[in-house]
Amino acid sequence: MSETQTSLMNQQLDALLYQETNLVANLANASALINDTYTDLNWAGFYLYNDTTDELDLGPFQGKVACMHIKPGAGVVGTAFKDQQVHRVANVHEFPGHIACDSASNSEIVVPLTKGDRQIGVLDIDSPSLDRFTAENEQELTEFAKILMQHID
Ligand code: SME
Repeated sequence: MSETQTSLMNQQLDALLYQETNLVANLANASALINDTYTDLNWAGFYLYNDTTDELDLGPFQGKVACMHIKPGAGVVGTAFKDQQVHRVANVHEFPGHIACDSASNSEIVVPLTKGDRQIGVLDIDSPSLDRFTAENEQELTEFAKILMQHID
């Protein structure tokens, strides 16, 4: 995939969310779309920043029950949120402070979600395979997050 070419999944996301602005509904379908498109996942979903508690709260997802609250700076999720950078982790067991919500997870990618200067939360995807996520996946998921943020108020 070239940098200028929008992937089929990202075109589907843009079409699926056309004129839809409900946050929960959009994130729910976005997590389902990732789970349907990517193979070899055990978790795909969202953590949303709660500025009252200064925590990331569990949002819509596909997968097993997960941690309800994660502090900024904690685990892969909290670190990506705090740094405002994508974290693509080949082996989560080597990541200091990794939070093992689902013991099946071996690799993970976390993409921060921002709208203007608002830090909304993160997209978090886990795989049972080591080194599951490629640089191309990172590029696609970064664009996915950008499209998603265009469809929330
Ligand atoms: N493993 C994550 C926690 C979230 S679960 O994977 C859904 C982490 O270390 O931040």
